[in-house]
Formats: sequence, structure tokens, C-alpha cells
Amino acid sequence: CLIFCSIMTSKEIRQKFLDFFASKGHTVVPSAPMVVKNDPTLMFTNAGMNQFKDIFLGNAKAPYPRATDSQKCLRVSGKHNDLEEVGHDTYHHTMFEMLGNWSFGDYFKKEAIDWAWELLTEVYKIDPKLLYATVFEGSEEDGTTMDMEARQAWLKHLPEDHILLGNKHDNFWEMGDTGPCGPCSEIHIDIRTPEEKAASGLSGRELVNKSDPHVIEIWNLVFMQYQRMADGHLESLPARNIDTGMGFERLCCVLQGKESNYDTDVFSGLISKIGEISGHRYGENAQADVAMRVIADHIRAISFSIADGQLPSNVKAGYVIRRILRRAVRYGYTFLGLNEPFMCRLVQQLVDDMGEAYPEIAKQQKFI
Ligand code: ALA
Repeated sequence: CLIFCSIMTSKEIRQKFLDFFASKGHTVVPSAPMVVKNDPTLMFTNAGMNQFKDIFLGNAKAPYPRATDSQKCLRVSGKHNDLEEVGHDTYHHTMFEMLGNWSFGDYFKKEAIDWAWELLTEVYKIDPKLLYATVFEGSEEDGTTMDMEARQAWLKHLPEDHILLGNKHDNFWEMGDTGPCGPCSEIHIDIRTPEEKAASGLSGRELVNKSDPHVIEIWNLVFMQYQRMADGHLESLPARNIDTGMGFERLCCVLQGKESNYDTDVFSGLISKIGEISGHRYGENAQADVAMRVIADHIRAISFSIADGQLPSNVKAGYVIRRILRRAVRYGYTFLGLNEPFMCRLVQQLVDDMGEAYPEIAKQQKFI
């Protein structure tokens, strides 16, 4: 194990996140539905902050100054779309859980960075030497400057060579083409084995944001202070807010000392079940492995979408779900020899794995 930790289950990892932010005065709120019905800019929840959009824009009053949750997200359309990567790599998903903490005009960068650091290194006990932070370098086009405040806050925890500057593409987060946005600071981790490090000869720093499966972003801290208007210019929001999102499945991969999200207890039950149904053993054939990952990922997206009110259909959001279903079936048919309906046979396993944290899936198991 690269990390000095005892192995936590995914359930414990999720709970520790919520407990930590509750102890810092955050109200624990439930995940919003993954299907969005009242926002013309969005078909599916693509980030934890979606349910708070009106608060950020100043159109609604925050019922609490701080909140935390684990949000079901789906990134398959619009600005944030990871569909084609899913299955081919081991760390992108269509549906994933985003652990987040929010400040609505309350605390700002310093506290967000200090608490992220405390949680990762003291609660989850991740070795600080494995961590890197990126900071926004500013953008002439938008009239924004380098984020000195975030850099200063990181220098309290990290040596200079673990802090990198990033451009608008990587370090300025936007919900969509319009809407709340702001500079962000990402936390990346180097979980390569000593052999991998020796073979590559590169430091973790050189691999941040370079699509290495073992040097990955785990947490994004967004300093939500602007609104992108339809003509492209930025307006200041009424308050300075915090919006963070940590990839739960990636965090589980790190804390459970695995090389892939699919080896964690979030996915291992589904992978075994797919193996049982197809007669393939995960890890023996690269093409079959991709197919098993695609199916394990997609059954979650489809089931949660149905549970949240979006059935597969031939138009709009329903068509997005139908395409995910077809992709899963196509991979199962082509690479695993599955000629009979099989997706429905995975729902029980999904309910066993996630029904406690998300009761909506257990309640609608038969319907799904
Ligand atoms: N809203 C930010 C993200 O999704 C935290 O990355």
C-alpha cells in the first residue's frame, strides 16, 4: 500500500467526508436527483453545485451558510462529457458520486484549502508527499489575474514544486456555457508504484494533467465568484462562494490502495457479477476488460436515471440514456458474447452495493 492507511470501505470513506464537514459547521444535505427538469441549460446533474445554482446567482436565499453532500452526477452531454473515455480508462465514469462542501458567501479560499488539506492528510491519512495543487494563472481574455491568494494558502501546506499554475481550460470551472463560474484549484495525487516511477523517470509534477492513470485529479476547489453571461463576459456574483467536488470513486481507489476505480468495493461486486454472467474473468483479456468496465459503469448510470425519472426514449434526455444503454449492450454482445438480455440481471447487485446510501434505487428495483 502506497498510502499509510488502514483499508476503509467505500461506505466509511463517504461517511467520513460528511462527518468531517459537519464538524466544521456544514449542514449535511441529500443528493439532488440526477435528472434535471427545471433548467434549460442542463439535462442531467453534472456537478454537486447544480442544486445550489440559484443561491450562487443571488436568485434564492441560502437556507444555511455551509452545506455538504455526496451528489449523484452524470457527465454524458453538454460541457462536461466523459462518455467516450469510460471503460477505456480506469478513472472516468458516466455516473459518479461527487463529494462536496459549499460556502454561500461565508468562508472562502483559505478555509477551503486548509480543510481540504486537513481531511486528506489527517483524516484519510494520505501521504502529503503524493499531493500536488494547481492554481489559476489568470486570463487576459477574461480580464482575470493569477490567483495569488490560493497559491499563498497552498504554500502553508505544500512546497513550491508541488504547486503548479494552470490555464483557463484546467483552472477556471464553469457549469455550462453560461452560469456561475470561477477560478479553481485542483488537488492531484501521484499513486504510481515505485517501479512505475523508476520506469518513467518523471516526477509527479511532470505528469499532472497529462492523462496518466496514476497521476490523477481527485478534488476540485472552485472559488465561485463570477457569472458567465450569454455574450461571454464575466459579471461578479453577489457573494464570494466555495464549491468543491471530489471524485468519490477515485478517492476510494486511492484510499483502498488500488490501481483502478474498478478494483474498489464500489465496482468489484458488479465486475464479479458480469464475470459470472458472461463466463469471462476480469484481468485476463484487455478487450473483455474494457467491456466489463463499460457495463459496470453504465448499469449505474441507467438505473439511477430511471430511478430519478428519466427512462430511455428516442428524444432529448431519454435518448442520451438510450445511447448509454445501447453502448453497454453493444460491448456485452461484441466482446463478451452476451446474446441474451443481461443488464437487468445486474440490478440486484447494484441495489446491494448502493441501496443503503441511495434508497431510491432499492425502492424502484423492480421497475428498473
Ligand atoms: N463544480 C466543481 C466541479 O464539478 C467542483 O469540478
